[in-house]
Amino acid sequence: TIEPIKPLTVKKEEIEVDDGKKKVTIFFGTQTGTAEGFAKALAEEAKARYEKANFKIIDLDDYAQDDDEYEEKLKKESLALFFVATYGDGEPTDNAARFYKWFSEGKEKEPWLQHLDFAVFGLGNRQYEHFNKVAKVVDDIFAEQGGKRLVPVGLGDDDQCIEDDFTAWRELLWPELDKLLMDEDDATSVSTPYTAAVPEYRIVFHNTSDASPQDKNWSNANGHTTADAQHPRRANVAVRRELHTPASDRSCIHLEFNISGTGIMYETGDHVGVYSENGVEYVEEAEKLLGYSPDTFFSIHTDNEDGTPRGGSTLAPPFPSPCTLRTALTLYADLLNSPKKAALMALAAHASSPSEADRLRFLASPAGKDEYAQWVVASQRSLLEVMAEFPSAKPPLGVFFAAVAPRLQPRYYSISSSPRIAPTRIHVTSALVYEKTPTGRIHKGVCSTWMKNSVPSDESSDCTSAPIFVRQSNFRLPTKTTLPVIMIGPGTGLAPFRGFLQERLALKRAGTELGPAILFFGCRNRNTDYIYEEELNSFVEAGALTELVVAFSREGPNKQYVQHKMTERASDIWNMISQGGYLYVCGDAKGMARDVHRTLHTIVQEQGSLDNSKTELMVKNMQMDGRYLRDVW
Ligand code: 2AM
Repeated sequence: TIEPIKPLTVKKEEIEVDDGKKKVTIFFGTQTGTAEGFAKALAEEAKARYEKANFKIIDLDDYAQDDDEYEEKLKKESLALFFVATYGDGEPTDNAARFYKWFSEGKEKEPWLQHLDFAVFGLGNRQYEHFNKVAKVVDDIFAEQGGKRLVPVGLGDDDQCIEDDFTAWRELLWPELDKLLMDEDDATSVSTPYTAAVPEYRIVFHNTSDASPQDKNWSNANGHTTADAQHPRRANVAVRRELHTPASDRSCIHLEFNISGTGIMYETGDHVGVYSENGVEYVEEAEKLLGYSPDTFFSIHTDNEDGTPRGGSTLAPPFPSPCTLRTALTLYADLLNSPKKAALMALAAHASSPSEADRLRFLASPAGKDEYAQWVVASQRSLLEVMAEFPSAKPPLGVFFAAVAPRLQPRYYSISSSPRIAPTRIHVTSALVYEKTPTGRIHKGVCSTWMKNSVPSDESSDCTSAPIFVRQSNFRLPTKTTLPVIMIGPGTGLAPFRGFLQERLALKRAGTELGPAILFFGCRNRNTDYIYEEELNSFVEAGALTELVVAFSREGPNKQYVQHKMTERASDIWNMISQGGYLYVCGDAKGMARDVHRTLHTIVQEQGSLDNSKTELMVKNMQMDGRYLRDVW
């Protein structure tokens, strides 16, 4: 059998803590790999700076099996650094969820962390309502429980330049760590901040005859009982169809994965994570830029030849190998996002032209901050575009995969079916990402493009497949089926509600009594992007949906949005809420969900004749009771 990929886990052999060396643990809660990258970068620098300390990088999920073990182990830590990201509606990343739940629920305890020095850096985005909530909560609790906060919580903002926020936070941290980890005589020897060396994996090139390739890494029989991000299962695409009409200039795909025989199970309202592939045109471009042939057959290692960890890293290799460069670039390299500053530094280190190296270093330097923000970030220059501008920069593969190209991440979709109607299928509703960037490049979303180009098994026996897994959510219909349900989901925000309606249809058919349900859907025009129109109408006919309200934003002279329709139906919404009803919102977080939230606030205030603070309390309570749920991105 082929070993499944384990990108984020710590190897079994833990670093021994030698007598006299201080133990420092660096934790990360990562979703896209940024927090993990920061944790590693800090560890690299710290190792070089403090000889009398031992550093360990730990995935929060791997730290402990259960809550008791978390407590027991944390009691033994003396210096802990945390990198935690906040997602969607103020939630932790999957791998931090268990820790976060336990830690934030144990607030009432007697202070039990007086022995601990700690610092927290958060990764978030200021555009979202709950900016860095997870980091703030974790930081507060550590302090409340008696821990000594070394530096104020770092609030990384991905909307600007999160690497700069990290650098600034790190500069505050060094003097504090110096006090704890350095002898006085050492302290004078480090006068200038240490700059980390470019990390590099060890690469071994093979002949194809030496070793068998591990290309088809994600088999179904991988020995793990449940599929998760580290142990996905390969599922075939069974159905693929366009949901927009030919009159539309955009595309939205209905896709069905066949999960029979994969062991994957799901519930209505869950998410599916999909590992897709880079388009071949991008892979070929990357091969050219790197200057390697696509058949280059290699293995990638995080240890030295003698088996000792490289640079102290205890993490597993980033992907299974040996494999060909073609495979590695197709499956594992993020080629289309903008490169981070650390990637520019790595490219600079391997640019043969001095002027190119200088320009790359400038872009990554504090002096080049504005230029980086403009030329890289605001222009949405992809990694490939940047590399094409610096043709002399040819990093070796060990550097490319460690420091230049981040790992290609799975994409998450709200499942648009219910297992009660589709037990062997997971349905996905995916809008095609296809946009012109400021440089004139057409940005094609990796996964939505892959889905659009996929070949379903109902068309060909040689169909497309992908490693997938299910992520549980708390987006669930009320257990008491007679309670009223209000659903708000414009565009692909409709996805989970299609699942909800399938579920209600199945319940209805089984004779279950259902409360009223109203759906607010929004799209541009009934002739272009009114997705699943017939199905929605048939849910109404069958009694699974009491009322369907659609806002067309580009039909009349004025924009009609879901929140305008909500205002028109204020008293109905108020009545449903007053009867203990549930309200659900799905879709875009920055615009739609924020506007809908304001509208809900106004409806509650006016209909209930409440003052501002009572209104806020009521909406908050609905949230706390799980009666106002959001699945937003
Ligand atoms: P628009 O593109 O015409 O502005 C699905 O994307 C639907 O949501 C579209 O009709 C889109 O309208 C609409 N939409 C865009 N911004 C919105 C917002 N802030 N609130 C509600 N709907 C919005």
